Order: sequence, then structure tokens, then C-alpha cells
Amino acid sequence: MKYESIRNLKIPRIGFGTWKIGGGSSPDLKMDSVSMAALRSALETGYTHFDTAEMYADGHSEELLGRAIRESNIPRESLFITSKVTPSHLKYDAVLSSCENSLRRLQMGYLDLYLIHWPSVGMKLEETFCALNKLAREGKVRHLGVSNFNLKLLKESQAHSETPILTNQVPYSLSDRSYVKNGVLDYCQRNDILFTAYSPVDEGRMRSNSALESIAKAHQATVHQIALAWIISQPRVITIPMSANPVHIAENFNAADIELTGGEIEQLSKAG
Ligand SMILES: NC(=O)c1ccc[n+]([C@@H]2O[C@H](COP(=O)([O-])OP(=O)(O)OC[C@H]3O[C@@H](n4cnc5c(N)ncnc54)[C@H](OP(=O)(O)O)[C@@H]3O)[C@@H](O)[C@H]2O)c1
Repeated sequence: MKYESIRNLKIPRIGFGTWKIGGGSSPDLKMDSVSMAALRSALETGYTHFDTAEMYADGHSEELLGRAIRESNIPRESLFITSKVTPSHLKYDAVLSSCENSLRRLQMGYLDLYLIHWPSVGMKLEETFCALNKLAREGKVRHLGVSNFNLKLLKESQAHSETPILTNQVPYSLSDRSYVKNGVLDYCQRNDILFTAYSPVDEGRMRSNSALESIAKAHQATVHQIALAWIISQPRVITIPMSANPVHIAENFNAADIELTGGEIEQLSKAG
């Protein structure tokens, strides 16, 4: 695994996403055995960085992640756990209770990273950050960040946060360069902010092409692994693919070890 070093932290460049673990927008208990198997497989493979949210399966994703971690007996301090507050919970009291609820569901004493999941119309970032700053001061969350924030909102967040914004989590893949075009990637790279790429394999709908296939063949890798290796070859960029398939879970983890050449990176970057 490769790590990104930032402010005395070493964060695995490939983490494990949990959207659809535990259900979609509401809990789907029929899926628990499949979801738990995916989480156990991720922990056994060696993932130590997990991304969840109160919104995922209405909290059930957090419950299952906490359960799988407790069962694994892996020490909490060796893991990096991110959760997110939902856009309808951005008022002061709601942020505090959302965080308490996430910690209760995960059965953890703190989160490594707490993000505003999406901006909401009419949100008051100053008020939201009053609560987030309190959580950080109390040690309930170690680091603060945002998700799906454009440049203007990211800069506003920096102004309101008492601690440096650790990341902006946004969609990024070979086929989705929207956060390059809007200037967020460049800003993050210049300002020591992690750029966390979500949906890195286009939610499973990734399209292949001949360039991708020939690079994959040269590395004896899959095209999905090359897509992930390309993402994390970029400064300050990390990613959190999700999979329920143990073969893909291992492939995604091992993608961190693929060393693309400068020419390959350029070829893939141009193709977008
Ligand atoms: N902040 C936000 O607003 C936001 C939004 C979306 C997602 N996220 C986070 O980012 C994570 C990842 O994004 P995502 O789940 O939307 O999309 P994704 O990781 O791009 O795609 C997941 C899908 O791709 C398939 N897949 C994964 N690895 C594969 C591989 N090596 N080969 C073939 N297929 C593969 C999986 O199917 P199998 O199960 O069959 O492998 C799954 O259906 C989420 O789980 C969530 O934690 C955050």
C-alpha cells in the first residue's frame, strides 16, 4: 500500500468505500451477510482506511462497519475512519447530534475525519463550522473536511475551520474530470488539501478502451486497477473504491503497488 503523508498523518492512498454496504437509502437487512462478508474481506485484505456516512443505508452502513471492525480485533488506532454529516443536518445542534449518532452506531470514541457530505441550499457554513470546530476541540473528530464542494465553498470552509481542511471528497475518474475543470484539483494540490476521489471506477460502469487495455496488459493488471493506479499517481490524490466482490476488493488494494510510467500517466490523462 502507498500512503499519502500530510500534516503528520499517513493515510492509505486506497481506502474502502461503503456506499451500498448495509442497503441503499434505507437499511436492507437481507443484505447483511453479503455486506459483512465484504467488510471482513476488506479488513482481511489489509484495508485500514474506511469511508462511510450517516446517509448510507440510513446509518446501517456505520453499524455494520463498526461490527466488522470489532469482530476483527484490529486496534482502533491503526484504522482511519471517515464519516459524513448529511446536508439536512447542518445546523449547530444537528451537527453535534449527527456526530454522536455516528459514533454510537460505529461504537467508536472518535472519527479520524468528519465531512460535510454535500452543500445544501441555504446552509450557513459559519454555524456548521462552529459545531464542527467544537467536535474537533473535544477530540470527537480528529480532522475536518468537506465533500462535493466547489472552489468558492472550499475556500469559505477553510476560512471557518479552526483546523486545516484535510480533504475535499469529490467524484473523479478517467471519465469524470469535472473537479479538474472547476479548478478544485489544482487548488487542493497547491494548498495541501487531500483530493479524495469517489466513484473512481464509475460506480462499476467504467468503459474500457484500447489504450487502457494495452497498459493493463503491460502491467498484468485489470483495467480497473490501472484506473485506480492512475488516480493515485497524482499528487495529493487518494481514492476509496467500493466492492462487494473479494476478488475486486483484493485487486483494488493491490492497485496501489502498480507503478505507471510517466508516459502511461500522460496517455491516460490526455484521454479524459
Ligand atoms: N461523498 C459523496 O458524495 C460520495 C458519493 C459517492 C460515493 N462516495 C464514496 O466513494 C465510494 C466509492 O464510490 P462508488 O461506490 O460510488 O463507486 P465505485 O467505487 O466507482 O464503484 C463501485 C462499483 O464498481 C464495481 N467495482 C469495484 N471495483 C471493481 C473492480 N476492481 N473490477 C470490477 N468492478 C469493480 C463494484 O462492483 P463489485 O461489488 O461487483 O466489485 C461496485 O458496483 C463509495 O462507496 C462511498 O464510500 C462518496
